Amino acid sequence: MGSDPSVFLQTGGERTGSDPRTIGVLISGRGSNLQALIDAIGDGRLDARIGVVISNRPNAAGLDRARQAGIEAVVLDHRGYATRDDFDRAMVAALRARGVRVVCLAGFMRLVGAPLIDAFPNAILNIHPSLLPAFPGIDAQQQALAHGVKIAGATVHLVTLELDGGPIVLQAAVPVRDDDTVETLSARILIEEHRLYPEAVRVWLDGGWSIDGRRFVLSAPRDSSR
Ligand code: GRF
Repeated sequence: MGSDPSVFLQTGGERTGSDPRTIGVLISGRGSNLQALIDAIGDGRLDARIGVVISNRPNAAGLDRARQAGIEAVVLDHRGYATRDDFDRAMVAALRARGVRVVCLAGFMRLVGAPLIDAFPNAILNIHPSLLPAFPGIDAQQQALAHGVKIAGATVHLVTLELDGGPIVLQAAVPVRDDDTVETLSARILIEEHRLYPEAVRVWLDGGWSIDGRRFVLSAPRDSSR
């Protein structure tokens, strides 16, 4: 079972050397999606523990959210590493040292490279504020407004070397209003992000899914009452 996504079958926590329900969260900024994960764990919607929060920015507000929740908060400043691969390898070491099984990018503003992806095959999730494959990259909400779409939304996907291009786990749609600004549209999408990310992590952790080409496929229909 290598990093070839076409042969990957996730049955749920079968790997050794890591706690099957331990998450590592990577952030760069305010950390509202981190907070959504913390809250979902706190109120029982998500059966998991956050083993570590890592920020590449020393002043990220999300670091305080982690500390307030009693979660270890680590700064790995990318500027301190000679290459992107060196930075990625430092993150792998920090995540592995804390038994992390699945990595959640939550507003993490660095490209993720092969050392991290190969260390966590099909086990890195990202949340993006658009209905991918529309509007990858930065300023997705601004891209959506500029394009004039009537439906926007959020996507949780597996991270591959293709920017915002990995298999889609879950999506949620929101309407775009004629009087929307980037701020109002972003706020409407963010509400869905906060609901969607914990749900996607739960789906991932519960297993029983596989990757079929580009598709993330559940072997049994999802129980939406949970
Ligand atoms: C969110 O809109 C997320 O979709 C994007 O970056 C933003 C991060 O916000 N990847 P926060 O730091 O989780 O509040």
